[in-house]
Amino acid sequence: MIHLSSLVRDLKAESAFTVLALARALKAKGKDVVELEIGDSPFPSTPAAKAAGIAAIEANQTGYGPSLGLPEFRASAARFVVEEFGIPAGAENVVVASGAKPFEQYFAEALLEPDDGVLIFSPHFPTYEPNLARVGARPVIEPLRSVDSFRPRAEVVARFLKTDARPRAIWLNFPHNPTGGVAERADLEAIADLVRGSDVMIFSDEPYCHMVWGEHARHHSIASLPGMLDHTLAAYTFSKSYSMSGWRIGFAVGPVPLVEAVGKLINTTASCSPPFVQKAAQAALEHDLETRELYMARFQRKVERLSAGLAQIEGIKVMPPVGTFYVFPDVRAICNRLGLTSHGLALYLLEGADDQFGVACLGGECFGQAGAGFLRFSCAEPDERIEQALAFLPDAFSRTSRVAAFRREHPALALHQPYLEVI
Ligand SMILES: Cc1ncc(COP(=O)(O)O)c(C=O)c1O
Repeated sequence: MIHLSSLVRDLKAESAFTVLALARALKAKGKDVVELEIGDSPFPSTPAAKAAGIAAIEANQTGYGPSLGLPEFRASAARFVVEEFGIPAGAENVVVASGAKPFEQYFAEALLEPDDGVLIFSPHFPTYEPNLARVGARPVIEPLRSVDSFRPRAEVVARFLKTDARPRAIWLNFPHNPTGGVAERADLEAIADLVRGSDVMIFSDEPYCHMVWGEHARHHSIASLPGMLDHTLAAYTFSKSYSMSGWRIGFAVGPVPLVEAVGKLINTTASCSPPFVQKAAQAALEHDLETRELYMARFQRKVERLSAGLAQIEGIKVMPPVGTFYVFPDVRAICNRLGLTSHGLALYLLEGADDQFGVACLGGECFGQAGAGFLRFSCAEPDERIEQALAFLPDAFSRTSRVAAFRREHPALALHQPYLEVI
């Protein structure tokens, strides 16, 4: 018998991919499924990126490259964060990897020891905890509250720094997946004031840096504040802004010793990111601004339509997201009425509500217990498919005999203790 490690046995994988596999299996069997579970884009990768990637393959840029990334791409990425976010970075502050996600692991491995305390605002991206588990670091979970518009509160950080036995890191993710909250500059300044000069480091996960919708809101990176680049590893990806999720490319910005340490970790794992993919990403940064802005405007319209459509459905409460391409409605009233957990409700919409048609989305508890009673919908489908999903939901919620049958078949998804509803 194969003896798997306790790390792997306990590892919780990202549920969006599990639900995606289920949705694809149902589609393969002929079911019509609107896929709003995964945070992906319905648009093609931006044109300069595609052209540069193809050209780089034709030019045989298909061998190994430096573990830290191609020098010209690192320089381009540094110019980008200087110009867009005011982060005082040079090429030496940039390290390249396969998306934003690998930097969770690299940050943990480069900076944390067993039992180090790491503050995470929750609901939270599901791979944060598994990546801390790799090194035995200790997540300290604190809720983000809808009354604060899902913004991070400095008091929570202050309490963590004061009371935790070994406070070592703070993980921020704004614009925030799944709630759509956006940190204001003042929030980040207050946090920076608490951290500056200490040995605490910040992982700032910023995949949605171009998705801020509020009229006066804009994206701020804590790494741009005075002295804070020395305290931060800020992670960026091409998955969302340039519709390049399948290329697997991103980069992070931080102080040179940390960047070099991450380069060493990459040397011992992935070796490097594919050079032709880096050339594609560089072209995206340098030539695809117009398409990026067009895509962002389309995402904004989709999010607004999805929020407005969900808000019309009885029992659903929506706080329209200030950023990201997710809507995270409160469905506690519906869960309580149907006797299903929010994860159960999501699976009911996919599998149980209808034989021919389903909607794939995620239960909020995929993002930790703080997300229970919510659903997360992405905007990963064309507009007309989002409309079909919106039309289906109230009908699905009213099919009480199908709900009862689904609950009988899946007793683990039944809700035994009603959620507390906020009036
Ligand atoms: C908060 C957050 N971090 C990291 C990632 C991973 O990004 P990538 O697929 O580019 O690695 C995502 C993707 O959905 C995300 O939402």
